[in-house]
Amino acid sequence: SDPDLVERAHAARAALGDRAFVLGHHYQRDEVIDLADVTGDSFKLAREAAARPEAEFIVFCGVHFMAESADILTSDAQQVVLPDLAAGCSMADMAAIDQVEDAWDVLVEAGVAEDTVPVTYMNSTAAIKAFTGRHGGTVCTSSNAHVALRWAFDKVGGVEGTGKVLFMPDQHLGRNTAVNQLGLSLDDCVVFDPRRPNGGLTAQQLKDARMILWRGHCSVHGRFSERNVTDIRAAVPGVHVLVHPECKHEVVTAADMVGSTEYIIQALAAAEPGSSWAIGTELNLVRRLARAHADKQVHYLDSTVCFCSTMNRIDLPHLVWTLESLVAGRVVNRIVVDADDAHWARVALDQMLALPG
Ligand code: 13P
Ligand code: SF4
Repeated sequence: SDPDLVERAHAARAALGDRAFVLGHHYQRDEVIDLADVTGDSFKLAREAAARPEAEFIVFCGVHFMAESADILTSDAQQVVLPDLAAGCSMADMAAIDQVEDAWDVLVEAGVAEDTVPVTYMNSTAAIKAFTGRHGGTVCTSSNAHVALRWAFDKVGGVEGTGKVLFMPDQHLGRNTAVNQLGLSLDDCVVFDPRRPNGGLTAQQLKDARMILWRGHCSVHGRFSERNVTDIRAAVPGVHVLVHPECKHEVVTAADMVGSTEYIIQALAAAEPGSSWAIGTELNLVRRLARAHADKQVHYLDSTVCFCSTMNRIDLPHLVWTLESLVAGRVVNRIVVDADDAHWARVALDQMLALPG
């Protein structure tokens, strides 16, 4: 990093003192992580944002949906800032609110809506979270998806019953959790494709399904393949394969361990010196882990998969501009969710925060 910019960033950060709180997601660049007051996965960062009522400015180094959630969970007096407004998430963009409203109409038409609870992954727009809150559902993250799914199924007769969950927008997290953690079968899962009439499903398929999975995925994690797991096991005997649950079902099933970014960090911290690991998640995090654990062998599960390009948009120049603007009394790139969506999205987020464990 440019030493001048580093110095300016630290000076602006110091000038703001307790007025600002800087959150950094684990996929952020090193130069940004160095300036974060706290780092975490989506769940931890949502809780941290909600726990800082004294901070006037929440500077969110992450992506748009995370900053929206922070705005929803903080008071009206607090201002949430995203250093680059182009830091979106391609997965969150795969579920537009109009498409989700239309999908719900399809479920109503098929006579299954009253037995269906929506669960939305944190990686979704505030409008989708609000839809979920209005329909009695919950938000989840990669660290509590199994708890959220059990809670949702319990509302409609339990995992053993006939009730359903509409899971948005990540089909992989939904399928992996339902099949590998709740014991449902692959046949219990159907994929609702918003680009096809009736989601590409018949009324009978909707009636028989237990998990209605939105056709969305992460463009980074979707690139890891089962072949990568086979290849690394052949190349590195005894390797532990550790992946994020946004990976495809066959990848997660072939791996040894699966969990959120925070879980991945803790697993490496607890690992034996000399042990070998292949990590299937975003590259900034894997590189940092490799540097932090020089006593372990840390491999990237697929060397052709790269950074999350939108997470990477937040860089030192954007952060310096943001912090210096705040010092000068100008709030730039503020993220504000409209009041009605914020109310209902908060219902779904509070439901998540109230889940056990
Ligand atoms: P975590 O909740 O594990 O931090 O993941 C967020 C994310 O965007 C993964 O792609
Ligand atoms: Fe979205 Fe995937 Fe990037 Fe996470 S890694 S922010 S899910 S595009």
